[in-house]
Amino acid sequence: MSDQQSDLVILGGGSGGYACALRAAELGLSVTLIEEAELGGTCLHRGCIPTKALLHSAEVADTARESETFGVKATLDGIDMPAVLAYKDGVVARLYKGLQGLVKSRKVNLVTGTGTLVSPNTVKVGDTTYRGTNVVLATGSYAKTIPGLEIGGRIMTSDQALRYDEVPTSAIVLGGGVIGVEFASIWRSFGVDVTVVEALPRLLAAEDAASSKVLERTFRKRGIAFHTGTKFASAAQDDSAVTVTLEDGKTLTADVLLVAVGRGPRTQGLGFAEAGVSMDRGFVLTDERLNTNVAGIRAVGDIVPGLQLAHRGFAQGIFVAEDIAGLNPRPIEETGIPRVTYSDPEIASVGLNEDVAKAQYGDEVVSYEYNLGGNGKSQILMTTGFVKLVALKDGPVVGVHMVGQRVGELIGEAQLIVNWQADADDVASLIHAHPTQNEALGEAHLALAGKPLHAHA
Ligand code: NAI
Repeated sequence: MSDQQSDLVILGGGSGGYACALRAAELGLSVTLIEEAELGGTCLHRGCIPTKALLHSAEVADTARESETFGVKATLDGIDMPAVLAYKDGVVARLYKGLQGLVKSRKVNLVTGTGTLVSPNTVKVGDTTYRGTNVVLATGSYAKTIPGLEIGGRIMTSDQALRYDEVPTSAIVLGGGVIGVEFASIWRSFGVDVTVVEALPRLLAAEDAASSKVLERTFRKRGIAFHTGTKFASAAQDDSAVTVTLEDGKTLTADVLLVAVGRGPRTQGLGFAEAGVSMDRGFVLTDERLNTNVAGIRAVGDIVPGLQLAHRGFAQGIFVAEDIAGLNPRPIEETGIPRVTYSDPEIASVGLNEDVAKAQYGDEVVSYEYNLGGNGKSQILMTTGFVKLVALKDGPVVGVHMVGQRVGELIGEAQLIVNWQADADDVASLIHAHPTQNEALGEAHLALAGKPLHAHA
């Protein structure tokens, strides 16, 4: 038995937890960071980074396949999945090494093991107790499935799909949210016959309706099948295939089934409820300063209701560290957090959807859609899509929505516009480099300000 004391004990070394640890250490606090698996969590090992590596391989495959369009003679001979996985694992390994170095250099006490909250200020790992003046819960999320649908064999979540070393001939993707859409895109680029099943009326239902429409149109062109407004009923697998029955009685058969129906909070059996922490369906409830109802216990990341995004976790972790250190940071506004789905096409957004804005501001809302057809760089890349602005009449831009290849890289400027509450004139007066896709943002604001250049009024 031993007992250790620090200013901060953080349970979970994913995006939220390690960002909190690094910032707290920078601010001179003593930090114990407890992680049962690998530092970096879902984002680095099973989420953002490995999936984006696969998406890059997918893009390379498409570039080879479509090379003649650009006058280049190349052939796509096939996808060497073990080599794709090795490339992906190399990316993860380099970042993991860097992160370990960072944590070490900031003198964070990294403890490997499963921690449980045994009192409001104590986390126990094996026989050792770690007491913190403050405790931060950052235990992250897991890939959910639905009752009666067991993961195993041909039925997988993103955890198994990221390690799957074959290219299936066909795949069914259950859930047309972010994970479903990204995997559908990857597999299609690798030549797989993909069918997405989504209960809600459209793919990426949380995005602006116009973005879903362009995504669906492009997916259709790419040969990705999808059934929206369709619920899953059951699945059965044997040696040769998996068969999915839908609630409307239709059946689909494929090599594999990817279950991408959301991620649940990892909070079971860790002592949170027993310590008196208020929970709702497994999520930890907090106020806007990320305090739980128990004094001295904070929570960050995917266990806090809201967007389950790594960069939200980073921001929350930094916020908590600064708040504890007495810097009085400004609370994070959820609508100002940028969102990107890295499929082909990419979908990027920040702020309010047109529907949400209208529900909030009624007739005050105006919108403008700039078609990428008028954007030189997008023509060069031969990508289609748009930049859509949602604004208040004679007021600020409250939402930016973009679809098209590479538009994820434009979200940086879009988030400044929304978070700094710029209006159309503010942005229209800024010069955008030509020819960039970024220019499409400038053009959209020129048009919204009543002075369109490469667009019709
Ligand atoms: P999600 O919540 O985005 O999508 C799940 C989808 O499954 C929903 O559209 C839902 O309607 C559908 N669904 C649920 N039950 C169903 C049923 N019985 N039949 C048919 N459809 C059903 O969750 P997802 O895609 O699993 O992602 C989990 C989290 O990970 C998300 O919060 C997402 O933001 C995050 N993530 C973010 C990425 C990014 O930022 N690029 C990439 C991947 C994941």
